Amino acid sequence: MPVTVHPFAIGFGAEIRGLELSDPVFDGDSFEIWRKAWETHRVLVLHDQFFTDRQHIAFSEWFGPLEEFPDPKDWAADDLPNILRVSNVDRRTDTIKDVDEPGHKSFTLGTSDWHTDSSYLKVPCKGSLLYSREVPASGGDTMFANMEAAYAALPDKRKADIAHLEVVHDFHWTRRRFGLPPRSPEVQAKTPAVTHPLVWTLPTGAKALLIGSHACTIVGMEEGVARKLLDELTEWATQPQFTYRHSWRVGDLVMWDNRCTMHRAMPYELANVRRVLQRTTVVGDGPVA
Ligand SMILES: [Fe+2]
Repeated sequence: MPVTVHPFAIGFGAEIRGLELSDPVFDGDSFEIWRKAWETHRVLVLHDQFFTDRQHIAFSEWFGPLEEFPDPKDWAADDLPNILRVSNVDRRTDTIKDVDEPGHKSFTLGTSDWHTDSSYLKVPCKGSLLYSREVPASGGDTMFANMEAAYAALPDKRKADIAHLEVVHDFHWTRRRFGLPPRSPEVQAKTPAVTHPLVWTLPTGAKALLIGSHACTIVGMEEGVARKLLDELTEWATQPQFTYRHSWRVGDLVMWDNRCTMHRAMPYELANVRRVLQRTTVVGDGPVA
């Protein structure tokens, strides 16, 4: 079956058909098709994939080194720090987690807000590959916002006003905002606040807004004014004409370009219904330009 690319009507994102990632003959030609489609469409969807954790990692590594996640309880397996479980189910007990447990609450609140993965790092990730093993019958969709299109559509005056602004991204601020206790001093020391340009220049030369839930303030701006501007830009970028909503099926793999999209999880019955997704994350190429 030939590999084909089917762009979504919204103007970004595409479905890939004809690829079987667990197939041992997956090769450089198949990767090139995927890479070019990803560069063009930013969010790729591939249905009906049934692969192991190690195959998830192996496919992700075609794009470069993967991030390692710090907490073993969130890994897909004890020896797989490259796979983050995105789930309300405890791996060790196989039961639904307590919604008020601080670590879980932080995760669900954090993922339900518009965000850019690892924007609180000096080098935010390049892309994320999220794979679904169990999904709710309803709810739990993932929304994506096209930050390149959102930037391009801004009025010229607004583009000029924000051209040189620097935004502080701070994971610990995100926790404070949700009323959660601070993480240990050791963890805080490993993830200090970082500063990125508000407008990110992509390797293609195109520009995209870099905001999201970890963006806490703007350098040199009064806090209330900065908050208002960040909220306005988020509202602008998440209008329907810039967004794609993915309704999960079991066996979906979705890969997004983290440098020009934001995303969020939509609500579902967190305390009653299982949702088991898992993510690998491709390390970024360098500091934000
Ligand atoms: Fe995320």
